[in-house]
Amino acid sequence: MQTIFSGIQPSGTLTIGNYLGAIQHFTELQEEHNCYFCIVDEHAITVPQDRLKLRNNIRSLASLYLASGIDPEKSRLFIQSEVPAHTQLGWMLQSISYIGELERMTQFKDKSAGKEAVSSSLLTYPPLMAADILLYKTDVVPVGEDQKQHLELARNLAERFNNKFNDIFTVPEVSIPKVGARIMSLQDPTKKMSKSDENEKAFISMLDEPKNIEKKIKSAVTDSEGIVKFDKENKPGVSNLLTIYASCSGESIEDLEATYERKGYGEFKQDVANAVINILKPIQDRYNELIDSEALDNILDQGADKASFEADKMLKKAKKAMGLGRVKKKR
Ligand code: TYM
Repeated sequence: MQTIFSGIQPSGTLTIGNYLGAIQHFTELQEEHNCYFCIVDEHAITVPQDRLKLRNNIRSLASLYLASGIDPEKSRLFIQSEVPAHTQLGWMLQSISYIGELERMTQFKDKSAGKEAVSSSLLTYPPLMAADILLYKTDVVPVGEDQKQHLELARNLAERFNNKFNDIFTVPEVSIPKVGARIMSLQDPTKKMSKSDENEKAFISMLDEPKNIEKKIKSAVTDSEGIVKFDKENKPGVSNLLTIYASCSGESIEDLEATYERKGYGEFKQDVANAVINILKPIQDRYNELIDSEALDNILDQGADKASFEADKMLKKAKKAMGLGRVKKKR
C-alpha cells in the first residue's frame, strides 16, 4: 500500500479539466492506497481573492470531491489552512529553496507576466506545495501535466533536505494520466483549460447545466476540414474534443475516430456533449445534497484531525533535523 497526496485550489468552480486530469483518478486510487486529498486554500491566496467567494469555493470544492466519489472512510479530505504544519514546513523549505529556481517555474512566469503587483507568495508557492506532499511520506502524487515542474522541484527539495540535514523525507513520484492530463480551452485549444479563464465559453464547469454544456461544446473552436481525427499539431480543437470524449466515455481515441469516420462535426459535438453531461449529472445531483449538509463539516473536521496527527509527527522530525526549537534542560 502506498501513500497518495494531491491538492486542488479553491480558486473557482472546478472544470472538467480538473476532473479528467485529477479527481477521476483519485477515486480509483483510494480503493487500494492510503490517500490524502487537500483543499489548498493557502495556495489560492497567492493571487487576490474575494473573502466570501473564497469561503464558498472551499465548501464547494469539498462537496465536489465527495460528490465525485472521494470516500471519507477511505481517504482523508481536509483544508490546508486547518493543518498549520503545512505553512510551517513550507517556511522551512523556503529556506533551502533558491530564488533562481523559483523564478524559473512556468506557473510563476505565467501568473506574474505583465502584472505590476506580484505577491511574494506567488514566488514561494512551490516550497509550500512540497511541504504539502512531504509531510505525509507521500509515495505518489497524481496530478495533471501542468504540475510536473512543481513536482520535480518538490523532489529536489526533498533530496536537498535529506542530504543537508537528515534523511527523513520520502522522495515522491509523480503520476500523470495517459489520456486527459491536459484538457485544453474550448475557445483557444492551444491553451490549457483553466477555472480562472475570463471567457466562460472556454471551459466547462463541473456544475454547468446540461443546456450550457451543450452550448459550449457546440461553439468549441475546431477547423474547417470536417474530419474527426486526432492530430494535436494541426487539429488541436478536434483532438481536445476527442480527448474529452474518450476520458468521459472510457472508449479509446482510435475507436472514436472510426465511429465518426464519415460523420460531420455536428453529430460528433452533440455526442461529446452527451458524454460530458452523462458523467457530470450524477456528480451534480450528489453535490446538491451535500453542499449545505452538516455531514460535510464533520468530514472536514475529522480529515483535519487525522492529517494533523501525521503532519505534526513529520514536522517535529524536520524541526529537529534543522536545529529549530530548544533542547529542554533536565532538572
Ligand atoms: P489546480 O488547482 O490548478 O488543479 C488541480 C488539479 O487539476 C489538474 N488540472 C488539469 N488537468 C488536466 N487538464 C487541465 N486543463 C487541468 N487543469 C488543472 C492539475 O494538474 C491538478 O492536478 N499546485 C496545484 C495544487 C497543489 C497540489 C499540492 C497538487 C497544491 N499542493 C500538492 C498536488 C500535490 C494546483 O494549482 O492545482
